[in-house]
Amino acid sequence: MKVLFVCLGNICRSPMAEGVFTQLVRERGWEDRITIDSAGTSSYHIGELPDPRARQTMQRHGVTLTSRARQFTAEDFAEFEYILAMDRSNYDNILRLTDSEEDKSRVWMMRTFEADPPTSHTAKEEVPDPYYGGEQGFEKVYTMLVRTHNNLLNKIAKEAGWTE
Ligand code: 4NP
Repeated sequence: MKVLFVCLGNICRSPMAEGVFTQLVRERGWEDRITIDSAGTSSYHIGELPDPRARQTMQRHGVTLTSRARQFTAEDFAEFEYILAMDRSNYDNILRLTDSEEDKSRVWMMRTFEADPPTSHTAKEEVPDPYYGGEQGFEKVYTMLVRTHNNLLNKIAKEAGWTE
């Protein structure tokens, strides 16, 4: 199973989402069953490490982020079964890259996973962009991701028929 987290720059929210999910998957001992990656819809920060504030926030929670930013491409639809967009703009930009309903069915807004299981691919709520704010915004993003990721993993495990 392959899971891809997507935001705008791939230096704040989606690397954090990747880190939180990697930690959770390890806790369940399923690291051999799930491949996790992240990408940005923009090309702004290609090749860069995550923002220092994202790295510090995750380090406080025991996760070291080492990913390098890359841009989302239409080829990712064939590669990843679950594509999680942090906000509505990311979601719309991803869908714009395909006409295939099968591709589109793989894309979800992250905070739909506050419900277990989610009832829609879109949610009113977004994971807000912390880039222009302070440290506090990053901690808020972390808390949101912890809340959604457990339900995301539950859905994947149920569909795949995994038991602990
Ligand atoms: P991210 O945050 O999408 O969570 O990685 C941003 C990073 C960079 C920019 C915007 C958002 N930027 O405009 O450079």
